[in-house]
Amino acid sequence: MGEQGVWTEANSKTYRQLAAIAVPARAEQIATLLTLIPFGRDEAFRVVELASGEGILAEAVLEAFPQATVLALDGEETMRQTTAARLSRFEGRGRIGAFDMRAGDWYPQLDGADCVLSSLCVHHLDGAEKQVLYLAAANRLAERGALLIADLVEGARREARDLFADTYDATAKAQSAALTGSTALFEQLVATEWNYYRYPDPVDKPSTLFEQLTWLKEAGFAVVDCFWMQAGHTIYGGYRSEEASGAGERLHYEAALEIARRALAETAG
Ligand SMILES: C[S@@+](CC[C@H](N)C(=O)[O-])C[C@H]1O[C@@H](n2cnc3c(N)ncnc32)[C@H](O)[C@@H]1O
Repeated sequence: MGEQGVWTEANSKTYRQLAAIAVPARAEQIATLLTLIPFGRDEAFRVVELASGEGILAEAVLEAFPQATVLALDGEETMRQTTAARLSRFEGRGRIGAFDMRAGDWYPQLDGADCVLSSLCVHHLDGAEKQVLYLAAANRLAERGALLIADLVEGARREARDLFADTYDATAKAQSAALTGSTALFEQLVATEWNYYRYPDPVDKPSTLFEQLTWLKEAGFAVVDCFWMQAGHTIYGGYRSEEASGAGERLHYEAALEIARRALAETAG
């Protein structure tokens, strides 16, 4: 991170180099988020993605849901450029915008949105800022809307933090070997002290999962839950309605995984 915890172009460069091994089970995470979206495959609905990075999740959403639109917001220019190139083939269904997640001046862009997605950024907000975000999403999302977040969480005890530190390294090392046949990328990850649970950094402010589910419920989401977890990385969120769900054919996990893998393969190429 740059000075005062601001994400910089240099951070984006390091993340691009390491993401394939630094994010546990990345294809699984993308597929899980896609599968949790409470709309049918042929429905027209509006997604806002917070901190969209290179636009991989946004691309997967547009691919999986041919009538959906995505507004992909990110704070860093090179990330937005990559996303713009990636989404250009969707002919206006994917839009890109700049935002500072911590500022709150962009909340009106959530008004009436059907789904808010975010991967690996909410942990840069402190507890109070997360609560404000969750309240804004609950108040502004459409009736059938959902807020779905993939992110690292804090361990509730030292044992959990130590476990997350060890399992995170084990996952990254295994992914390095599986993807490249070598541990070189993992060694780079160790050298950059990327493992938050081993090298806490004041710019990373993950909260515990329990706190966040509580804040989501207090914000007004009818249903809150954790849907996936590995090495301190979780997928959790809230639905505004208890029952309302997609009409028509739903996206199933295996199909979502195929779509996620294709989007990630384009990144690697
Ligand atoms: C670790 S990357 C994750 C990117 C992508 N969501 C993914 O899962 O691959 C973090 C992203 O958050 C963006 N970011 C970090 N802090 C931000 C802030 N305060 N406001 C807006 N974007 C921010 C960065 O530009 C970067 O694209």
